[in-house]
Amino acid sequence: MRRVRAHDWARRLTRENVLSVDDLIWPLFVHDDQGVQPISSLPGVSRLDVRHTLDAVRRAVDLGIPAVALFPATDPKLKTEDAREAINVNNLVCRITREIKAAVGDAIGVILDVALDPYSSHGQDGLVRDGRVLNDETVEMLCQQSVVQAGAGCDIIAPSDMMDGRIGRIREALDAAGHCDVQIMSYAAKYASAFYGPFRDAVGSAANLGAADKKTYQQSPSQSDEAVHEVALDLAEGADCVMVKPGMPYLDVVSRIKQSFGVPTYAYQVSGEYAMLRAAADAGWLDGDAVMMESLVAFKRAGADGVLTYFADSAAELLQ
Ligand code: PBG
Repeated sequence: MRRVRAHDWARRLTRENVLSVDDLIWPLFVHDDQGVQPISSLPGVSRLDVRHTLDAVRRAVDLGIPAVALFPATDPKLKTEDAREAINVNNLVCRITREIKAAVGDAIGVILDVALDPYSSHGQDGLVRDGRVLNDETVEMLCQQSVVQAGAGCDIIAPSDMMDGRIGRIREALDAAGHCDVQIMSYAAKYASAFYGPFRDAVGSAANLGAADKKTYQQSPSQSDEAVHEVALDLAEGADCVMVKPGMPYLDVVSRIKQSFGVPTYAYQVSGEYAMLRAAADAGWLDGDAVMMESLVAFKRAGADGVLTYFADSAAELLQ
């Protein structure tokens, strides 16, 4: 085996998987305050105001990153029990999406999450009654949220809420509103994971959620067949592509889904995964660039067509 590893040219010649900038989706946190606000549990990542978001998007375009995913840190005063800010046509993500599209048009894809947690006073992804997260009532609202976001110019609707039956209903709602070209990227296999901690700090939902969890709708980490079932349902309902989340601890699921369905499959290297690597690199315990690139090519090896990662800009820079 060592003959094919003996020289750089030989290793390049036998290389099976390559990471390119086309594989990267960059998640950005946006806020309504002025300027740039660092997120302490996510070193190197900040909440950006409109102007800095536009700067980041222009940088992404220059680097060749195909898409950004926007997540709002909603003003706590706008968070309500019924999460109605989610369907406000002038909410933060809608305003920023319109600005991005006006500035760079089709040079980059804009992905918007569909779920109520950035807007709800209880921090759950759905509507809550008597302590239960309601399915069908939530789906109604997610349909409205999707149409509102598509109307603002978003290219990909990404439901991350894990309610049942929402993909089919969202597809119908988008088509009925004339948004038949808007893609649906379903967070089909999304786990009830502790790796989302820094994200919940970033969007400010950690305090709202308190000691509650999302186990009645997100999958348990022990499940694999169930992920295949979820993906099959979402594809049958009209998802254009699917996502597995978190990423690194679930590469077996990425691999299984890609092999089972052969559809565009994405993985989300979530906030906790990024935070672990960054913290160890910042402490001098790991070589930051090396583990970043190694972790990203691992997604490709598992079969992912792309990775949502907070490393997207740094990785794109290194690839250049
Ligand atoms: C919202 C959502 C979450 C993430 C993406 N969309 C958090 C959650 O489900 O609690 C997590 C992403 C990350 O940790 O980087 N439903």
